[in-house]
Amino acid sequence: MLVTQQPVLRKFWYALVPMTDLDQGPQSFTLLNTPLVLWKQADGQPAALLDRCCHRTAKLSKGFVTPEGHIACGYHGWEYDCRGACRKVPQNTDGTIPPGAGVTAFHCQERYGYVWVALDDPIAPIPDFPEDGDPAYRRIFQFYEHWATSPLRVMENSFDNSHFSFVHKANFGIFDQPAPSKYNIEETDYGFQAETLVPINNPPESYRITGTTEPITHRHLINRWYQPFCRRFGCSYPASGIDHIIYNCATPMDDGHMVLVQWLYRNDKETDCSTQELIDWDRAITTEDKEILEATDPDACIDLGRHAEFHMHSDRPGILMRRKLMQLLESHGEKEVFRSA
Ligand code: FES
Ligand code: CO
Repeated sequence: MLVTQQPVLRKFWYALVPMTDLDQGPQSFTLLNTPLVLWKQADGQPAALLDRCCHRTAKLSKGFVTPEGHIACGYHGWEYDCRGACRKVPQNTDGTIPPGAGVTAFHCQERYGYVWVALDDPIAPIPDFPEDGDPAYRRIFQFYEHWATSPLRVMENSFDNSHFSFVHKANFGIFDQPAPSKYNIEETDYGFQAETLVPINNPPESYRITGTTEPITHRHLINRWYQPFCRRFGCSYPASGIDHIIYNCATPMDDGHMVLVQWLYRNDKETDCSTQELIDWDRAITTEDKEILEATDPDACIDLGRHAEFHMHSDRPGILMRRKLMQLLESHGEKEVFRSA
């Protein structure tokens, strides 16, 4: 599936940049091949327009934010509001504006410290992170980075219990126990929830992460897939009662490049395990996933009838994702578009 060729994917929310990035001025971001300018308005809310001035096409992300909170083009100073309407042409001292002058605007809002955008009218809400704002949890912004792969590969990988013994054998994976834990999967309106219990290696360097000193411990996982490209890794360590809950948004930039956003919620204290320890711990694991995923073909085929890849039992969550994505396309009158060989 080429994500930029499936218009229905424009109807979902994606996390683009941290809100704090907008304090540096207007930012550019390419979402599904659509160049955007993002900026913070006078009321603190973010806004998103096509990154192309309607006068002589200059990128608005090269411009600046006016005291009224509009975006001004850096070339000749034309100003636009959050709806994309041209509000000022500085050269026209009588205040006139060419009729119809404006730029395409997109749905944009802040959530969980990030700017989220939907290119077309959204058909699903931004996924709910119930831990966000809950005083029992601290929120850690772990990663915000470019990956040279596709969001579907990242989503499938995060429900794939067969890769731990290989990709993560240097830390939590148990190399000589490759048989994967089975998931109980429940389909939901947003996608599905998958629950399982996974044994993991627990060497001394992870005692503060897991909160236990057992050499082998367990993760109780309540994971969720939010169609198309968000997921929850709902990990609890039964031996300690520590929750290590990760949310990801795999934001598609083009066919083969995406941004990985990762939030972590923990129900312990900074003195139990510091923010930096938690980032370093997940850094090693995430880098292992990134390296292997960037070595796959990003154009994962969702049409199982094509038999483009072979499968095994533990691919079941990924196969369900592919089926549901096919249904999504079909219900919007789309066919899957592939990369031509
Ligand atoms: Fe933007 Fe001229 S190109 S104001
Ligand atoms: Co992994």
